Amino acid sequence: MKIAVLKETRPGENRVALTPQVAQNLIKVGHQILLEPNAGYASNFSDEAYEKMGCLIATDKANALAEADIVVKVNAPDASEMAAMKDGAVLISYLYAAFNPDLVQQLNEKKISAFGMDAIPRISRAQNMDALSSQANLAGYKAVVLGAANMGKIFPLLMTAAGTVTPARVLIYGAGVAGLQAVATAKRLGAIVEVSDVRPETKEQVESLGGKFIEVKSEEAAKVEGGYAKEVSADYLAKQKEAVNKSLFMADLVITTALVMGKKAPVLITEEQVKQMKLGSVIVDMAVEQGGNCELSEVDKTVIKHGVQIIGIANLPATLPQNASELYAKNIQNLLNHLATKDAFKWELEEEITKGTLICHEGKILK
Ligand code: NAI
Repeated sequence: MKIAVLKETRPGENRVALTPQVAQNLIKVGHQILLEPNAGYASNFSDEAYEKMGCLIATDKANALAEADIVVKVNAPDASEMAAMKDGAVLISYLYAAFNPDLVQQLNEKKISAFGMDAIPRISRAQNMDALSSQANLAGYKAVVLGAANMGKIFPLLMTAAGTVTPARVLIYGAGVAGLQAVATAKRLGAIVEVSDVRPETKEQVESLGGKFIEVKSEEAAKVEGGYAKEVSADYLAKQKEAVNKSLFMADLVITTALVMGKKAPVLITEEQVKQMKLGSVIVDMAVEQGGNCELSEVDKTVIKHGVQIIGIANLPATLPQNASELYAKNIQNLLNHLATKDAFKWELEEEITKGTLICHEGKILK
């Protein structure tokens, strides 16, 4: 089948859906790859690199879209891209269907079969297709590096002739994919790392990376559904605050990654708490796009409030476009290999991965 790879149009988006290496893997299976010129340039992949792997370079975006049976993207297509797609084509990209009903409606009107990369079920056999996890992993790393670059002190203990520098204290909210990578990265840099999560089973994972798990005195623990934590009560959140505050007020860097699937992010750091944090400390709020875990964070801005720097970058993976594209492309390859042969899609609508990701198909909205 003919697969089009487009240049992303979302501002600040440097990733590309297929890398030359993954394009070659798909060509070996029997697909054809048609690339919009410069689609991979911002991820450090030149058109020549794709050509070497056997890809065709389209004259422009419209040409790529007019020919394609399958369109692969990072972000959902914009209106003009959608208009240029063939009726009945297949789209694979992030869609966030629950938050974008108009987009789903428009895709459906063109009878496009759309798969949401954000909707891959969190099950073992879909792990190699799980784009949210592959990207969150990189983002967790970047959050620490970004925090480190904005702090007035270093991470490790340093003993010098001029005196001893004490290690930085890092506090991480949420020990999911992003949080655990943040723990590992902060430990590697030499910090003292503490972690709070509502799922008690994360304690062992945090400790295995050298972090200290902050216990909350409560019988309640978050339930897990589909691999994601469910909401906890206000009473639990108050007890969590009590348990974590001492660490928060001593922290040099705080990374917040707390997520409850399908809900606004829980507010874990209020303005009152920020006021009591150390002068010059830094918060990186990774949940900023879902409303933020800190009530003072702003999307795509760094603000200084009460002497604390609060960084809220919504798209951290786009700041590591080369690796982020490599992993995202692999996720796409694994999903495509699961869904289709070189000639056709299997359309096993009751199969768990297909059912989880297929948002609309043959003029019907399925989610
Ligand atoms: P995940 O679902 O793997 O982890 C979230 C963790 O938060 C879970 O372990 C959950 O138990 C925990 N949690 C829920 N409520 C909590 C609470 N009240 N206190 C402490 N922990 C709590 O999610 P993942 O993939 O690690 O993503 C984390 C967040 O980072 C999400 O909001 C995601 O959208 C965001 N993200 C942001 C990026 C960026 O560029 N800013 C990039 C990737 C992810």
